[in-house]
Amino acid sequence: MKPFFEDKDFKLYLGDSIKILSKLPKESVDMIFADPPYNLSSGGITCKGGKMESVDKGEWDKPLTLQENLKFTKKWIRACARVLKPNGTIWISGTYHSIYSTGYALLSEKFKIINDIAWFKPNAPPNLSCKCFTASHETIIWAKKDNKKNYTFNYKEMKFKNWDDDPIKKEGKQMRSVWVIPSAKKSEKKSGSHPAQKPLAVLKRIIEASTKEGDLILDPFCGSSTTGIQAILMKRKFIGIDIMPEYVELSEKRYKDIFKIWDV
Ligand SMILES: C[S@@+](CC[C@H](N)C(=O)[O-])C[C@H]1O[C@@H](n2cnc3c(N)ncnc32)[C@H](O)[C@@H]1O
Repeated sequence: MKPFFEDKDFKLYLGDSIKILSKLPKESVDMIFADPPYNLSSGGITCKGGKMESVDKGEWDKPLTLQENLKFTKKWIRACARVLKPNGTIWISGTYHSIYSTGYALLSEKFKIINDIAWFKPNAPPNLSCKCFTASHETIIWAKKDNKKNYTFNYKEMKFKNWDDDPIKKEGKQMRSVWVIPSAKKSEKKSGSHPAQKPLAVLKRIIEASTKEGDLILDPFCGSSTTGIQAILMKRKFIGIDIMPEYVELSEKRYKDIFKIWDV
């Protein structure tokens, strides 16, 4: 299977993740981070930069029925389980629209939940309907494949490293399950932006917590490859998959811009 782009420890595939995952070697991946479609693009509105905007992100984010979404989620989680090493872990992000189905699908596929992280975004946009609370966090579920295996958790790095950017992390105290991290900065979008781009800081914490140098990290819905950029910055290996040509192109550009490997 030919990658769309490959350089050293960074590999991108264009296509449907369930199909691509079925061709990757069994039990070869140390950690998976997945930020699947939220199926929210149904013509609603949101607030961006103080202006009213459509929530629609693209064809890849079109709404599914509960049953369709559960079927899809179980299928890609099963495909991820096949490539994950027995001591590997998976992180999956989502909002209240999707995260309960995700949790159900993970448990159905025999994963064991380790934590659910509440990622609080202090700069979340206001709620325009004024009929409910302003959604200002995402949930990130962290789960292990096999209850009997020792998975990587870098406890000391979480407790003692410098996490000064997070106002609620106290120096020298255990890392808690609520993380305060703003949305992706403008400076992270210099190569172009993805409508659901994750901040590098979220991936930094996830990679620091659950992997070692040289580990292979996979993102089956990689978008702009935030996971991949942070993985390479931290000397890990990366495989990213996305179904949209424009996003694998953006990932390639972002990688080249950051690591200065210009085409000749
Ligand atoms: C929420 S976005 C991920 C954003 C990413 N975390 C980032 O920081 O840029 C989800 C991505 O999944 C991709 N996608 C949707 N369905 C897919 C499928 N069946 N296989 C592979 N990618 C898919 C979309 O094109 C989109 O880029």
